Formats: sequence, C-alpha cells, structure tokens
Amino acid sequence: MTENSPFSKEIVDEKIKELRISDPGKATIREIVALVNLVEEETGKKFIRMEMGVPGLPPAQIGVQAEIEALNRGVAAIYPMVDGIKPLKEEAARFVKNFLHIEVSPRSCIPTVGSMQGTFAAFMAAGNAEKKKNVTLFIDPGFPVQKQQMQVLGQKYESFDVFRFRGKMLRPKLEKYLSKGNICSVVYSNPNNPAWICLTDEELKIIGDLANQYGVIIMEDLAYFGMDFRKDFSKPGEPPYPPTVANYSDQYILFISSSKIFSYAGQRCALMIISDSLFSRDYPHLQQRFGGTDFGSTITQRLLYAISSGTGHSAQWALTAMLKAANDGQFNFIDDVKEYGEKAKVVKKLFLENGFDMVYKKDLDQPVADGFYFTISYPGMSGNQLVANLLYYGISAISLDNTGSREQGIRACVSFVKREQFADLEQRLKLFHAHFSQML
Ligand SMILES: Cc1ncc(COP(=O)(O)O)c(C=O)c1O
Repeated sequence: MTENSPFSKEIVDEKIKELRISDPGKATIREIVALVNLVEEETGKKFIRMEMGVPGLPPAQIGVQAEIEALNRGVAAIYPMVDGIKPLKEEAARFVKNFLHIEVSPRSCIPTVGSMQGTFAAFMAAGNAEKKKNVTLFIDPGFPVQKQQMQVLGQKYESFDVFRFRGKMLRPKLEKYLSKGNICSVVYSNPNNPAWICLTDEELKIIGDLANQYGVIIMEDLAYFGMDFRKDFSKPGEPPYPPTVANYSDQYILFISSSKIFSYAGQRCALMIISDSLFSRDYPHLQQRFGGTDFGSTITQRLLYAISSGTGHSAQWALTAMLKAANDGQFNFIDDVKEYGEKAKVVKKLFLENGFDMVYKKDLDQPVADGFYFTISYPGMSGNQLVANLLYYGISAISLDNTGSREQGIRACVSFVKREQFADLEQRLKLFHAHFSQML
C-alpha cells in the first residue's frame, strides 16, 4: 500500500502496536509525540514534526535574564503571593491597557502555572458558580486538553463546530445553547487553535451580548495573542488592537500565555485577566462550595492556593520583565514570532501543490492568516486516515477529530518545522501524492 514511502511500514506499525495505540488518527498529541520519537530512534531518520505546538524559537532573552537575576537574589527560597507578585500584576494591567485597550485593575490580573492551570481553575469556579448552570460550552474546533480538563474535573460540556456558523449565523446557534439556562461558560481561542480562524468584532459582539443577556462567563483564550499577522498589533497604546469580547461584556476571563508569544513554554507562566466586575461578584453557590468570598478571591485564595499555591517565583519576575519591556516599547514581541507566519506561507504552499486542500479557509470574506497552525485535507481520506498515512511518509500531525471539528482533515503546526526541512517535506509530499492520487 505504501511501497514508495520513506519510512518502513513495518517499523511504524510495530511502534504503534508497542504503544498500544488502537488508531493513530484518534491518538492524543502526546501519544503521537511518543510514537514519532520511537520511530525516529529506530530508523535514525527525522520526521517533519507538525503534531505539537512547541515554540520553535529561543525564549525571550529579557525573560531569561530577569529570571537569572531573580534567582541570584534568592527568590527560590520564598513563597510568592498566591495571587501574584505586585510588579507583575501592575505590568499585566498596563499590558492589557496598551495592547487590548481595556481597563482592568492589577488585582484582577493573576499569574497561573501556564494557561492550562488558568483554565483548570476557571472551569472549576465557573462550573460551581450557579447551581443550575453546570455545563461549559466550547466553540470548537479547540484545544483538546481543555476537554481533558473537563473530564478530570468531572464537569459537563457541550460543543459545536463554528465552521458553518460564522458571522450572523453565530447568534441563533449560540442562543440555542444559552437559552436552555444550564450553560455556565463559553470557551474559545482567538486566534483559534487549530484552525487559525480569528473571530471578528461582529462575532465577539454577538458572544458578548448573549453573555450579558444570559449571565454566562466568557473564557477567551489568547494563547496566540496578537499573532494574526494580517494586522500590526505591535505598538503599545496605538490602534489597531486585537478584537476581544472584553469590548462587549464584563463577564470575561482572558487567558494570556507566555508560552507562544514569548517562547516561554518551559517555565509554565501565564496570566488570567478577570474583569473587575466579575472578580468582585458574589456567587452564593460558589461560596457554599469552596468557602470563599467573591469570584476572583475564590479563584486565588481557594482554588489556586489548593492547586499549586501560586506560580513559580522566578518565572513571575521573567514575565514581569517581558511585559514591562513590551509596555515600554522596547520589546516588539510580535516581530519575534512573525517567523511562524512566514514558514506557514511556504509549508501551506507545499501541501496545496500536492493535492491537499485547506479545511478552514476563511474568516468571513478574508483568507485565514498564516500563523502557527493550519488545517488541511486530502481528497477521499478521513482526517484519521490522513494522520495514519502521513506517518509512513515521515510527517506527523493530529486529526481534526481530536479538536471537536466536524470536518475531515488534520491540524498542522509549523512552529517545529525547520527551514532546512522544507526540501524533505516537499519530496515526501510528492511521494505521498504520487501514490495516493492513483486511488482517487
Ligand atoms: C489555545 C491554547 N490554550 C492554551 C495553551 C496552553 O498554554 P500554556 O502553555 O500557557 O499552558 C495552548 C498551547 O498550545 C493553546 O494552544
């Protein structure tokens, strides 16, 4: 079947069996990572690795330097405040003012151990805020681990794929869920992992208006903050600003991760920005459940305290320094990550020249931006089959099935693909297409 493939079918299949993966198309990101590691080790050949969103750039040096200095000052010995060190809270409030044009007090800006911990705590709080509202709604496609968090928490969720509900069509679709009265929160990422679509102001207004109407908390995951490279969001205090639901509702929690924008994934440091009004709101059911006071203090003093008692002290100093430099106009963090968009342009072209098609193609009337991820399909193949077949050609990715998408295709991440690998990628895609186009 794959007689022209650069990787031996026997070896790939043997490793799939060894890891007890029943269907590579349904494997989690980390399972694909483990599988490819084993095949690379056995064959001594490198894959084009597109399965995991690892930053492919060095960490922002301003952060590294500040962290070293903080460690030399002895912060490792000292527990940080559970709601974050003061300078970080202040720079975070400045950052959202400078780069989103929204006003939040430092109190409502809270560091977390990656956005993963932020969403975990927020899901717990939102899911217990009101007795009748215990279902989280995901606007998919989305980041698979957040569903895993729901599972770990034992909380209920529903989801729909936004593919066919863009623009005005979003309102009736969303309202159908919210009007049932059991939705506590709505979650989405913008730019979107995996599709790289960007919800527009019109769509965010719909989400914000309905959140106000139905008393629902909006969780806006900005892991790829400012990385819609079609516009220049890099100047502090100057428009344009990335669109955000915070312009239309005060029911929001924003998640800003340092992992991608500052290539700081290893230090697990992010920010949760809660609107001042949501922060200080009293929810009697939440107070009963966790014994805290208002919404924000329950998250910090009850949940984050119980989970990790705060975020790594030196990492907080790193984040403080990176935010300060960005706020002062001395660090153009968006310029640093533009490389992802440049690589995506080339990689997408290679796929498209070899029989593939984009899945999520447009933001209403505009083509999606080139960025960290894109979604791609091959005629006559389900997403799961495509993941499995590409493995024999030394290309690893995850199926859209894993992301709540109802479309057939895969998510390809460009961050880890090296420019030196473009020629290999092209050759492997040509072989793939030469083989499978005969079966169309
Ligand atoms: C949409 C989204 N949210 C959150 C995260 C995780 O962020 P962190 O590394 O800060 O935990 C990622 C990482 O890939 C992501 O894509």
